[in-house]
Amino acid sequence: METVHTLAALRERLSRHRRPAFVPTMGNLHEGHLALVREARRHGDVTVASIFVNRLQFLPHEDFDAYPRTLQADADQLAAAGCDLLFAPNERELYPEPQAWTVQPDPALAGILEGEFRPGFFTGVCTVVMKLFQCVQPAVAVFGKKDYQQLLVIQGMVRQFAMPVQVVAGETQRAADGLALSSRNGYLSAAERAEAVQLSFALRQLAQRVQAGAPREEAEAAAVQALRERGWQPDYLTVRHRQDLLPPAPGQPRVALGAARLGATRLIDNLEF
Ligand code: PAF
Repeated sequence: METVHTLAALRERLSRHRRPAFVPTMGNLHEGHLALVREARRHGDVTVASIFVNRLQFLPHEDFDAYPRTLQADADQLAAAGCDLLFAPNERELYPEPQAWTVQPDPALAGILEGEFRPGFFTGVCTVVMKLFQCVQPAVAVFGKKDYQQLLVIQGMVRQFAMPVQVVAGETQRAADGLALSSRNGYLSAAERAEAVQLSFALRQLAQRVQAGAPREEAEAAAVQALRERGWQPDYLTVRHRQDLLPPAPGQPRVALGAARLGATRLIDNLEF
């Protein structure tokens, strides 16, 4: 695998290819990312990953500075997973001037759930993804379902701007106990790590209750309360329509989504049902 740090080198290296398949990441990779890389390999004539910790998608009090930078270990894992090319620009390369132009996603989708609790987050994500797409010009881009709302927002951006990219969804990878893999799991203490799987249990129980006919809002309130009693600070646990994340009508495909803080670490997860 080759690693390039500049846009010029990236473009030069990709000039030989017609169908790049792309996995954008912020690094500190785990099996979830590597599964996306393996998925990407099925779709293109060259597999490209990027590593860039995108300042624009962090709120001032969030973990931009603490976010683990593990470039060499990440590059080794990407190479072993069969990635062909790593684009790892520094901030000056990707944002040579203050990024005054931004992509504003539809607030109906991007202003709720994660967008409500992390205002500006999806503007930051869309802006960097749009820019990375311009750099890599992928035919296919793979995003994980672990960040379910992000996947829908990116699909919406690609559709609305008629971007010539096929967005492929990668399944969430889980640890043996069911915890969704996430770079932020690394922040958890041993005791928190043992507790962390309770978020996915709470979502499963919420989905089962709604499926069994419990009123949605009551089931959501019970799920929030159950986590609170275990010491979590939940932002939301909710059941939504799978495509637009609005409250679902009977019979529509559903997804249970949750975000909650365990100690200092904010975790998210979801379950389609
Ligand atoms: O999911 C992520 O890691 C990031 O939000 C992304 C898509 C790489 C944009 O910075």
